[in-house]
Amino acid sequence: MSTEPTEIEDPVPAPPALSIIIPTYREAENLPDLLRAIDGVRREHGLDAEVLLMDDDSPDETRRIVADLGYDWVHLHVRTHNRGLSPAVLDGLTLARGTLCVVMDADLSHPPERIPDMIAALNDGADLVIGSRYAPGGSTDARWGLLRRVNSRVATLLARPFTNVKDPMSGFLAFRRRLLDDAAAFNPVGYKIGLELIVKCRCQDVREVPIHFADRTRGRSKLTVAEQLRYLQHLRRLAVFRYPNVACLIQFLIVGASGVVVNLVVLTALLAAFVPKELAIAAAIVVSIATNFLMNRRFTFSYARKGSIARQFLGFVGACSLGAVVNYAVTLTVLGYLTDIPQLAALVGIVAGTGINFTMNRLFVFKRTLVDKRPSP
Ligand code: GDD
Ligand code: MN
Repeated sequence: MSTEPTEIEDPVPAPPALSIIIPTYREAENLPDLLRAIDGVRREHGLDAEVLLMDDDSPDETRRIVADLGYDWVHLHVRTHNRGLSPAVLDGLTLARGTLCVVMDADLSHPPERIPDMIAALNDGADLVIGSRYAPGGSTDARWGLLRRVNSRVATLLARPFTNVKDPMSGFLAFRRRLLDDAAAFNPVGYKIGLELIVKCRCQDVREVPIHFADRTRGRSKLTVAEQLRYLQHLRRLAVFRYPNVACLIQFLIVGASGVVVNLVVLTALLAAFVPKELAIAAAIVVSIATNFLMNRRFTFSYARKGSIARQFLGFVGACSLGAVVNYAVTLTVLGYLTDIPQLAALVGIVAGTGINFTMNRLFVFKRTLVDKRPSP
């Protein structure tokens, strides 16, 4: 820094090279050790880093402890709105001033000593660097129970269609801040910010730096069952983003299968209530068409949820009817020319009818043009 007397000193200090974003909730007990460890890394590696503690107004000693430590490179941001891990991290990213960003947990599970290696990988050209438990050389705490291990592995496996990274669930990440500039509609639900970055920023070069993931020794984990269910919702969104047509078709088929169940349940219930069978069969069909419509509108074609429900319902019934006619015609044709087995012909008819049904719904009833492809501001 210049000390020339003629120069007016800039009142705003130059931005640091690195911003370390740490979401916290009730982590007061861990903060002294964590910040001291980061301080050690800063000194040892001459790292020009700020720390942004994104705290959701923890009802503990967080404020006092941070103030007592007196590090001028640590900034505590107390959040009272839109609480949660992901929103806290995203807020931190908007406040970050460094060219490089690191996101990590506060509970000492993520070793700050690995940050220099992660940064080296970034400087070597990586788009995203993951502090990885499952890369060669990485490990998890020996105290991890079987359930937690299986849980973690299953979650990782479910992410396979999107990435081959060994530890996409990790919350220990390093990337250039400008990576987020081209992120398409960044919208992570729950914990999996790394996975969201990989998919939405279309990261090409993702590298993994092995870490030892220590179990938290103080405070409590916030990974709840609700959080894990949110992960499934997140996967659905990512699938829709990355493989729009396949995701749509698969959801359409799942909804169709659910319609079979609805039909049979309604039929059985009505028959048990002594409703005449002609009426019961018709009612079961009507109810299953209605539930199929509603579920397709809610899930399969959720992008078109804002369209007119009446018009969509008529279109849906029309598409189903056309599908039924095609099914009938194809079945008869196949039965006449290709096989003598009616069931086999019917299967071919079902595939053809379903294909028409899906295509009509996708192209005309729930129009793709209603999808907003622009990235959120
Ligand atoms: N601001 C804020 N708000 N921070 C939160 C909240 C919240 O609602 N919930 C949790 N945090 C903070 C915690 O204080 C901690 O620093 C970090 O987020 C991770 O929370 P833990 O409760 O320690 O989560 P975990 O150990 O179960 O999850 C870790 O492992 C997962 C993979 O197994 C994290 O690293 C996850 O990112 C990772 O996906
Ligand atoms: Mn933890």
